Amino acid sequence: MQQIMGYGWGNNMNEEKRPFLETKDIYKSFGHVEALKGVSMNAYEGEVLAIVGDNGAGKSTLIKILSGVLKPDSGVICIDGREYCGLTSRKAIEEGVSTVYQDLALGNTMDVTSNLFLGSELTKCGFLKKKKMNEEARRLLDDLDIQIPDVTVPVGDLSGGQRQGVAVARLVHNGGRLLIFDEPTAAMGLNESNAVLRLIKKLAGEGLTVIIISHNLPHVFHISDRICVMRQGRVIRELRTEATEMDEVVAMITGAVTTD
Ligand SMILES: Nc1ncnc2c1ncn2[C@@H]1O[C@H](COP(=O)(O)OP(=O)(O)OP(=O)(O)O)[C@@H](O)[C@H]1O
Ligand SMILES: [Mg+2]
Repeated sequence: MQQIMGYGWGNNMNEEKRPFLETKDIYKSFGHVEALKGVSMNAYEGEVLAIVGDNGAGKSTLIKILSGVLKPDSGVICIDGREYCGLTSRKAIEEGVSTVYQDLALGNTMDVTSNLFLGSELTKCGFLKKKKMNEEARRLLDDLDIQIPDVTVPVGDLSGGQRQGVAVARLVHNGGRLLIFDEPTAAMGLNESNAVLRLIKKLAGEGLTVIIISHNLPHVFHISDRICVMRQGRVIRELRTEATEMDEVVAMITGAVTTD
């Protein structure tokens, strides 16, 4: 947590930041399907980068390569200055890359605190320091503005948005530096999605790099600093959100405009 709090990037000028993540010419095929055809893109510290594109554009394939779930056929991934030709999931986690999926890998029968401290439990003489962990869990959730009244309830009893919040809090607790959300607000209510969007913005404001994949363009325009448009396995344009109209992005996604 200490790792990411207090960076305090004050603006969105990418020239003043360095890319936390760079991909260079990534190719990936599944049999005869070329899912990625030379993808090069950057994500900077302290920004929210939205990746948009039609079904089958290659977004999830790219994300799986970034989180080490899939190995690219060729190309390089550079994280915080270190180059990888193929990242393993383990290495990606060590580098602070974490992906939050809609279907979250949380222990539903365990309470909120146990989920947050999974693998890093506080103990004294072999006994769990449950009270201290509950206090720290409370502080962490409050810091992140995640609305969970009771940290001792099983995660399975929480709403989708609250569970998403626990997944994010666990990541912050573990010191993640690149946070990837695959369709975070699909299947979420208005209040829940607003809370998740606020949280994403807040984390980027504290210096984390956030990548969000979404088909929801109003959400994308609400929270992103930049938009990366993918079509048919390629990045066809990287745009600054504030200098872009939603119609332009729709046209690029659908192929109604040609891009060079
Ligand atoms: N495991 C796989 N085996 C075979 N083909 C795959 C596999 N995963 C993805 N593909 C193919 O690669 C292409 C890109 O798929 P991908 O899932 O990356 O798209 P996407 O942009 O995430 O789409 P969506 O918005 O629908 O989630 C598609 O043509 C898809 O059918
Ligand atoms: Mg997908």
